[in-house]
Amino acid sequence: MPVPTFNRVKFSIDDPASIWVVVNKMRPLNPLDFVPSDLVEVPVAHTWVPLLRQEASTAVVALLAAASAEAGLSLASNSAYRSYTTQVEVYNDDVAANGQAFADTSTARPGTSEHQTGLTIDIGPESRVCSLNTCFADTPEGQWLAANAWRFGFLLRYPADKVEVTGYAFEPWHFRYVGVELSTEMHEKGVSTLEEFFGLPAAPNYG
Ligand code: DAL
Ligand code: ZN
Repeated sequence: MPVPTFNRVKFSIDDPASIWVVVNKMRPLNPLDFVPSDLVEVPVAHTWVPLLRQEASTAVVALLAAASAEAGLSLASNSAYRSYTTQVEVYNDDVAANGQAFADTSTARPGTSEHQTGLTIDIGPESRVCSLNTCFADTPEGQWLAANAWRFGFLLRYPADKVEVTGYAFEPWHFRYVGVELSTEMHEKGVSTLEEFFGLPAAPNYG
């Protein structure tokens, strides 16, 4: 029997509407002002009303339900879909507060954020302890997510040891939906970034 091999070209990595789209500092969304067509409100606890594409929303609901049922943890959304215009505000606020060099390690310039795909969510504890902070990685909630998000089709997109590949500092709260097929393959192969999995150049800086 032939061993089934993973089909790496099943979905586009260029089409912004593809669940495998790879977005980074070298790979802006095309068009830059892309808006997903199937955004829905995600029915989970939140600070700001979260929108995601339908498939990603369903997966987040399952992820947070499992965190509760399996580990007794209460998680909430801090940020999900962000439009190009919203990303302008988020980026400009980061630059104003911390300077451009720092901002470019923590917030994507407009048109290059995964949040604009409607496939990405920032998750924190409902208590808000360590929300959007590196210390989230050391909480039970952050550890459970890091270990289990792949089962629901999510990647911890900016790992601590891949800063030179992703171009962003460790974000233990930022989870990107790619579907269970791809997240499982990456988990089994021990490959943590989309750039490495698809053989793309590292994207530490803007081109
Ligand atoms: N914080 C991530 C990099 C973003 O702004 O999309
Ligand atoms: Zn994020």
